[in-house]
Amino acid sequence: MGPAGSSDDPGSEFVVVANRLPVDKVVDADGNVTWKRSPGGLVTALEPILRKHKGAWVGWSGAAESDTEEAEVDGISIRSVPLSAEEIAEYYEGFSNATLWPLYHDVIVKPEYHREWWNAYVEINRRFAEATSKAAAHGAIVWVQDYQLQLVPKMLRMLRPDLRIGFFLHIPFPPVELFMQLPWRTEIIEGLLGADLIGFHLPGGAQNFLYLARRLAGQATSKGTVGVRSRFGVVQVGFRTVRVGAFPISIDSGELDTQSKSKDIRSRARDIRKELGNPKTILLGVDRLDYTKGIDVRLRALSELLDEGRIDPHDTVMIQLATPSRERVESYVRMRAGIEQLVGNINGQYGEVGHPVVEYLNRSVPRNDLLAYYVVADVMLVTPLRDGMNLVAKEYVACRSDLGGALVLSEFTGAAAELRTAYQANPYDLDGVKDAIVAAVEQTQAEGKRRMRALRRQVLTHDVEKWAKSFLDTLTSTTETTSSANRG
Ligand code: ADP
Ligand code: G6P
Repeated sequence: MGPAGSSDDPGSEFVVVANRLPVDKVVDADGNVTWKRSPGGLVTALEPILRKHKGAWVGWSGAAESDTEEAEVDGISIRSVPLSAEEIAEYYEGFSNATLWPLYHDVIVKPEYHREWWNAYVEINRRFAEATSKAAAHGAIVWVQDYQLQLVPKMLRMLRPDLRIGFFLHIPFPPVELFMQLPWRTEIIEGLLGADLIGFHLPGGAQNFLYLARRLAGQATSKGTVGVRSRFGVVQVGFRTVRVGAFPISIDSGELDTQSKSKDIRSRARDIRKELGNPKTILLGVDRLDYTKGIDVRLRALSELLDEGRIDPHDTVMIQLATPSRERVESYVRMRAGIEQLVGNINGQYGEVGHPVVEYLNRSVPRNDLLAYYVVADVMLVTPLRDGMNLVAKEYVACRSDLGGALVLSEFTGAAAELRTAYQANPYDLDGVKDAIVAAVEQTQAEGKRRMRALRRQVLTHDVEKWAKSFLDTLTSTTETTSSANRG
């Protein structure tokens, strides 16, 4: 197949391919179409990059559809890949989110292995590869994103050997012992090896991958340790050299810093505290409603701290904002019920009429409101059992130019490697989490400032632009490397 669809359309020089488009299609009762921002960190990170690069975005609209659609939304050229209701159930809810997601997140829930889900995954990956092949100009740079599309690099290379193909995994890449459970483990590794550059958040993920490329695909690989944005690993695939690296993702921190200083947001933050009855301490959680996020961990910690009298329910409020996510996947339904029960128990026991201890919203809030919540929160609770990065932790830090606030952060997030002066805790150690929360609540102003200053230095100097630039510069540079492949 030649580049781009028709002879009068040369195609885009830069194409992002992700399961999700940056916007979800919403059709109202009268059939009017509007687009609303999609959930999750992948879209948060990539949207500003694509707007700057003026490229195309190939992805799914979030609804069951049978036709491809092209649109221009906020300066981004959108090419939708249609999925039927059955394909959504098998490829998206099934293989992507009930097989790969739990397998790659430490099997927090048990992954399910079904052959029909795998078959759907192969078929939909092929559909994405074909749509991308039509959207890309000759010699274009194509950047494939995340676990839903791990077969696309190889499929796309077969269709379009002229392209430069990068792949980035936004979630953890699991240890070998867990990955080996997957019946289609070799196909996934070979699918990824179709890329010229494969990126992970952390060196550990890159090293797990190199080991598997050797063991499962029988390729010669480098053996040295992989650095952060440096010392890339290499895999020799025939005459091609595939590079493997660690590129921790980030946010548009400068933009958030500026926005959070605006008068509107400051005054909205003050209003929020007033509406809550001016409590001394506001604790905040902001997550997709996902079992990896440890929302239950922080609620249990709060509950015990209240039981023990270490936190006073009269001057403390916890706000939990939880965006609905993957609502038809069974483990998500169960988890939501469990969390809502915990919220009910705490409020039943410690709340007053009109003054609950936990304010819980099961919805996404507008961006400006979110920033006001960050500005007003005395303690931000980020307690995932496992998380590739966690952008919420970085967003909070970027919004605290006043050097106020404190971040409680799980050791098992990618962000923990960078945000060293957060109050870090092991989310499986409830006493440790409780101590971290109390330390954050009781910190002196001087200690808080010292910690926040160091956190901000990291987040403001390592923004999403730097992430994209380091990945794309590596992808487009020639393939000399610091280490060479040898057969292990
Ligand atoms: P994930 O990608 O797993 O969802 P991240 O923390 O990396 O987790 O990214 C989540 C993104 O979604 C952040 O940009 C965050 O601001 C946004 N988000 C999460 N919950 C909400 C919410 N309730 N309202 C608005 N935005 C939210
Ligand atoms: C995480 C994943 C993304 C995904 C997002 C939202 O950030 O890494 O690939 O898009 O969650 O999940 P959803 O299933 O709604 O796309």
